[in-house]
Amino acid sequence: MDAVIDYDVTRIKQDFPILNQQVHGHPLAYLDNAATTQKPNCVLKAIDYYYQHDNSNVHRGVHALSERATKSYEAARHKVQEFVNAKHVEEIIFVRGTTEAINLVANSYGRSNLNAGDSVLISTLEHHSNIIPWQMVCEQTGASLKVIPINDAGEINLEAFEKLLTDEVKILAVGHASNAIGTVNPIKFMINKAHEKNIPVLIDGAQAAPHIAIDVQDLDCDFYALSGHKMYGPTGIGILYGKKALLETMLPYQGGGEMISRVTFEKSTYNKIPHKFEAGTPNIAGAIGLHAAIDYLQSVGLDNIAEHEHELLIYATEAMSSIPELRIIGTAKEKIGVVSFILGDIHAHDVGTILDHHGVAIRAGHHCAMPLMDRFEVPATVRASFGLYNTREEIDRLVDALNDVRRMFA
Ligand SMILES: Cc1ncc(COP(=O)(O)O)c(C=O)c1O
Repeated sequence: MDAVIDYDVTRIKQDFPILNQQVHGHPLAYLDNAATTQKPNCVLKAIDYYYQHDNSNVHRGVHALSERATKSYEAARHKVQEFVNAKHVEEIIFVRGTTEAINLVANSYGRSNLNAGDSVLISTLEHHSNIIPWQMVCEQTGASLKVIPINDAGEINLEAFEKLLTDEVKILAVGHASNAIGTVNPIKFMINKAHEKNIPVLIDGAQAAPHIAIDVQDLDCDFYALSGHKMYGPTGIGILYGKKALLETMLPYQGGGEMISRVTFEKSTYNKIPHKFEAGTPNIAGAIGLHAAIDYLQSVGLDNIAEHEHELLIYATEAMSSIPELRIIGTAKEKIGVVSFILGDIHAHDVGTILDHHGVAIRAGHHCAMPLMDRFEVPATVRASFGLYNTREEIDRLVDALNDVRRMFA
């Protein structure tokens, strides 16, 4: 496929000051975007501006700074609403990230709705963040965890999925895209099937948000979780989208300031959504940075980004397939820009360290998906993951460096 016309990656790269540096004497090729993405100037500036001009606590003050901070914080909520196409702005809850969003649902929804004999359905592809919170709530309630198998390409076995959707299942929690091997799941189909049985669905969108346009109304998911730092925003800020009717029935997950309506020592009442779920001083600067990151993503265009990254994925898959003894783990038809692989019997960490000495930053390890590594019978993989600023030239450097690794271990 030809590169996207008008997609000026050289210019885009200039928006990210961190990318303009040498690592071990080589220009940095940052191919670890599934772990976290780099931040464009506009995000850095938005955070800086907030701390230089408006820093104050939100919702509580009557003074000008507090009003400005509150306005910016709530404007960020509206921006996220538009980004995921939520029907109501109060369906957007600011959290620390995907991990906290899933913990919120597991605790607030799971604890009240799961009983002994019930089950939570997840898939083999899940990140630990979409396994452990459910395991914990299952231990507390006597419910059990059921796991949808995948095929050798790393795709969900849909036949098995439908069989596992029994009356005992009280929630389906599944990733939109796999961080470890890149598979994009057919979540719309899965949500429809679950809803036919009145089973609510949580989507872990940590890896999808920076690559795929999200429309929660079209998907009709009940919950959608994402992390700001995976989509060119700051760390420590993320989103839980939840359908209003569901959120209103759920008890708060954490108690403290902001989430209350009236407090007495005898009994307290809770605030309305979304504030009911935002106890304590929130990450105001984080929300403002996320707003700027979404503006940035929209200015480049999600469709353009998806096309550019898909082109990089095809290019990298082809180039890496020609390296002897390199085995790609995860060959699904639908993938985000992630290539996970092993190189003969060379340990993933050794590969990662040598690549680092070539200025190529990738990730080596289990990628917080140990059960998925077990499924492929590997302890770890090397993972290159692409973002909107990556280039073919960087992939060429990755391939050259991998050939060097082979020579060193020959
Ligand atoms: C698929 C997936 N889910 C959840 C998470 C957890 O995200 P965070 O650490 O931002 O909470 C990640 C992070 O790598 C992820 O890739």
